[in-house]
Amino acid sequence: MNTKDTSNKVRHSPTLVAENVRFAYDKHPVIENLSMTLRPGEITAIIGANASGKSTLLRGLARLLRPSTGAVLIDGCDVARLPTREVATRIGVLSQLPVAPGGLSVGELVARGRYPHQGWFRQWSPEDERGVRDALAATQMSELADRRVDELSGGQRQRAWIAMALAQDTDILLLDEPTTFLDIAHQIEILDLLVDLNATSGRTIAVVLHDLNQACRYADHLIAMSCGQIAAEGRPAEILTTALVKKVFNIECRLIPDPATGLPLIVPVSSRTPLDKRTTHWCCPAPADRFGKEDQAAALRR
Ligand SMILES: Nc1ncnc2c1ncn2[C@@H]1O[C@H](COP(=O)(O)OP(=O)(O)OP(=O)(O)O)[C@@H](O)[C@H]1O
Ligand SMILES: [Mg+2]
Repeated sequence: MNTKDTSNKVRHSPTLVAENVRFAYDKHPVIENLSMTLRPGEITAIIGANASGKSTLLRGLARLLRPSTGAVLIDGCDVARLPTREVATRIGVLSQLPVAPGGLSVGELVARGRYPHQGWFRQWSPEDERGVRDALAATQMSELADRRVDELSGGQRQRAWIAMALAQDTDILLLDEPTTFLDIAHQIEILDLLVDLNATSGRTIAVVLHDLNQACRYADHLIAMSCGQIAAEGRPAEILTTALVKKVFNIECRLIPDPATGLPLIVPVSSRTPLDKRTTHWCCPAPADRFGKEDQAAALRR
């Protein structure tokens, strides 16, 4: 799929596929024989308990970790065989807990997102300047461009890193918990931004989220991980069940319709919840029956 975004750049929505991959640390396998597809032009949310392998999978997809067996393919091409610079111009990554070199300013950090686009014959250009400026503006970091990254609050720092990933201007974006440290307003803002990037330029996006309700709202496709395996995947409203939440997180919950979207809203049930309030009465019909993607986006913005 090719689309033109607001900068008039013709974009291609690539497919990223993991084929029977095994990812291990020092020979200790975390993920074995896993296959998955990041669907082109869609937002995929990856959910799962701590240590279930979400970051390991994302790092593997980004070629930060090499599979000991199997392969990761971008549009059918093994990423292990591609030059590093090419991978960096095609896949943008935000790691879970990135650390900036001491003393680096926000502007300098975000400018690093443009490095893969430089080369022997291609020095810093007005396009790079614009890329940095737009990324800072999109994350509301323009006014903090001269501040040192290590002197920012956790949420400001997170937005600086997101800006760097945006400045990289890749067709694939892999973001590991981009909303961690952000207040609720900035969480919504960043997730809305991803929806906009996806809608206007058809970027293929994978995002690890711990908030199941946000995952449900924002993702076209959901991957639920458990113990290094995919426990379930599909459209959020089609796969999210109380049984899946129990299997993946070992908690009881109720599913009720989200008043803003009609999508499932997960309400955890604790041992302190009165017995008569613990059961589930509602079953979410497939959202496609009621909402198109644009209707959903409009509902979210209301
Ligand atoms: N660099 C590493 N070296 C060794 N083991 C690691 C390393 N990174 C992760 N692991 C192990 O791999 C397993 C999966 O970790 P991973 O970071 O992928 O989980 P996660 O699902 O992202 O968890 P969280 O929700 O806490 O971020 C864990 O048991 C973890 O201890
Ligand atoms: Mg993680």
